[in-house]
Amino acid sequence: MLPPILQNLRIPVVASPMFIVSGPSLVIEQCKAGIVGSFPALNAREKDGDPIQLEAWLTRITEELDQHNQDNPDQPAAPFAVNQIVHRSNARLERDIEICHRFKVPIWITSLGARTEVNEAAHDCGGIALHDIINNHFAKKAIEKGADGLIAVAAGAGGHAGPQSPFALVQEIREWFDGPLLLSGAIATGRSVLAAQVMGADLAYIGSPFIATMEARGTEEYKQMICDSGAMDIVTSSLFTGVSGNYLAPSIRNAGLDPDNLEKSDASKMNFAQGSSKPKAWSQILGAGQGIGAIHDVVPAATYIDRLAKEYADAKTRMAKL
Ligand SMILES: Cc1cc2nc3c(=O)[nH]c(=O)nc-3n(C[C@H](O)[C@H](O)[C@H](O)COP(=O)(O)O)c2cc1C
Repeated sequence: MLPPILQNLRIPVVASPMFIVSGPSLVIEQCKAGIVGSFPALNAREKDGDPIQLEAWLTRITEELDQHNQDNPDQPAAPFAVNQIVHRSNARLERDIEICHRFKVPIWITSLGARTEVNEAAHDCGGIALHDIINNHFAKKAIEKGADGLIAVAAGAGGHAGPQSPFALVQEIREWFDGPLLLSGAIATGRSVLAAQVMGADLAYIGSPFIATMEARGTEEYKQMICDSGAMDIVTSSLFTGVSGNYLAPSIRNAGLDPDNLEKSDASKMNFAQGSSKPKAWSQILGAGQGIGAIHDVVPAATYIDRLAKEYADAKTRMAKL
C-alpha cells in the first residue's frame, strides 16, 4: 500500500531531481500536470550575502501550487519533492534540512548516503523519505536507516546510474520489501511506466526526458542534443565526478575529449562543495540516460506529461486484451 501522499497521482510517475536542470518552473508544471515534481536543494544557490534561494524557491512552489489548488479543486496539484545529496562534501546539508523541515516539504529524496537524521527530519515535519540505491545491499541499508521507500536506479539511467538490469534489481528488492518502490533508468514512455509496474515497482522515476522541456533550466543546445540523440550516444564514465555516470557523447566531443577513450576516476574525487565534483560535469559534460531515443521535440512539461498519460492508458487497454 502506498503512503497517502503518493496515491491519487494522475499517472504513477515521479519526475526525478536533476542537477542544474530542475528548478521551480519545472517542478510547478510537473505537479500541476499531476505527477510529483522535484529538484535538488543544491540547485538553489545564492551569492554570499544574498537572500537564501532555497527559501525563495520553496515559497514560490508552495504559493503557486496552493493557488492552483484553490483554482482547480477538482484537479489538485501533485505533491513536490526536494532532493538532498547526503555526502560529506555537501557543506549545506544541515542548513538545507532545517529549511525543508520549516517549509514542511512533503517528499524528501536522498541520494548518495542514507542517514537516520535526514529521515527523522522528514518524518518530523509530516513528510516521507525515499532513498535512491543501485543495488540490494544499499536498499537494505536505506530501510534500516529509516527510509520509507526506495528508488531503484537501474542501468541506463541519467546521472549516477547503477550497473544492474531493472529486472534483477526489482526482483531482489521485492523478495523482502513490500513498501514504496520506484524504478528509474531510461523510462521515457507511458508504456514503459506500465512495464515498471508490471515488474513490481509502484511508480516510475523519470529524469532525462524532462531536460527537453521548455521549463527545464538547461541550455537550448543541451535540449536539442537530447532530441537528436539515442541510447548509442550515451557514454558511461567515472572520469567527471569520480562515480560512474551517463553522459551525452556529443558533449564530451565538444569538450575536446574522445568519448571512446576516457580515463577512469574514483569515488575519492567526489566533491559537492561546488555542487558537483568538477564544475565541468553537468554544465559542459552533459548528463542523460539511455531513454532519450524516445524524445524528439522540446515541448512544455505539461505536453510531455499528457503524452505519458495517454500512452499509459493505451498500454493498459492493450494489455487488458492479452
Ligand atoms: C542531468 C542529470 C542530473 C541529475 N542530477 C541528480 C541530482 O542532483 N540528484 C539526484 O538524486 N539524481 C540526479 N540525477 C539522476 C536522476 O534523479 C534519475 O535517477 C535519473 O535521471 C533517472 O533516469 P533517466 O534519466 O533515464 O530517466 C540526475 C540525472 C540527470 C540526467
